[in-house]
Amino acid sequence: LISKQFVVDAMIPKKSLPAVPMASESAPVNIALVKYWGKRNEELHLPITDSLSVALSLMTTTSVRQAPCKDEIILNGQRLPESSAFFLRTARFLDLFRPNSSFFFTVETKNDVPTAAGLASSASGFAALIKAINTLFDWRLSPEKLSILARMGSGSASRSIASGFVLWRKGVLEDGEDSYAECIGNPWDELRFGVLLVTSEAKNIGSGEAMRRTVKTSPVYSLWPEVVERDLKAVYQAIGSKDFVLFGEAVERNALFMHATMQTAWPPICYWKPETILAMNSVWSSRSQGLPVYFTMDAGPNVKVFYPVSKEKEVLAFFPSLWQIPLLW
Ligand code: DP6
Repeated sequence: LISKQFVVDAMIPKKSLPAVPMASESAPVNIALVKYWGKRNEELHLPITDSLSVALSLMTTTSVRQAPCKDEIILNGQRLPESSAFFLRTARFLDLFRPNSSFFFTVETKNDVPTAAGLASSASGFAALIKAINTLFDWRLSPEKLSILARMGSGSASRSIASGFVLWRKGVLEDGEDSYAECIGNPWDELRFGVLLVTSEAKNIGSGEAMRRTVKTSPVYSLWPEVVERDLKAVYQAIGSKDFVLFGEAVERNALFMHATMQTAWPPICYWKPETILAMNSVWSSRSQGLPVYFTMDAGPNVKVFYPVSKEKEVLAFFPSLWQIPLLW
């Protein structure tokens, strides 16, 4: 079995002390259009399928510097207790990059969105952190390598290294050297995005555990790779020809199938709340009235929608509480 440390050591220059006193970098939140759901290697976060996302203009900004005697993590101005899940997960990631065992980091991280909105993700967090570490040590790693290293923190973080439409290829190599994300396609300036906020409650089960259980126990998971292939093809074509209906249909059915795989796992996993279903129904009823609005959902209860700028006024009239978020090209 290949360890994370083995992959990291092969990828970064010989470990040395910081080249600058402090480094600060940002990375965008990304929303998957065709989802990453299921791993072929748990340790290295290697996915079973390709996935495709688009970047939002919501950023995580992270600064790193050497700390005197132990790691310190400050999230949105608050020093985190060493026993918190966020602290432990971040410190385990930092372990991969310490020049020696008595080297500690101070990490200060700020999210554009309140963590509670369910959008401030580990994806932008690990991407910003690895970019800041790269700058601190002056490693000058390529975007491909940064994407691979961000993946060591969280799979979807591999896609937060780039902006615009981003494709994460699953790769076939055992060490994941060919499993990284890059920007594909041109900006689609007419595309609009928004969130129908359902609740800001923390999720009851993390996506890592949910994926594992789905892959192991859902009888429909075996169809997922075909579904992804079909939807990727459609989204690709839609992006190329700016065909909004083709785009929206592929994005929505991909999210629904992902949720079908987890809802048919055992014990079942359902991230939907009653308000989630109300929001889905209102999207469908807006479509039946001629508005081209399509949704996607991730491992949480919020419903995220896409629509063309030409219908912005009508969409906002239909969904007065819609939280519009610009895409990042
Ligand atoms: C539903 O990247 O959070 O958002 O690799 O275990 O950290 P780990 O999982 P994570 O999973 C994201 C799942 C998703 C779909 C997606 O972003 O593609």
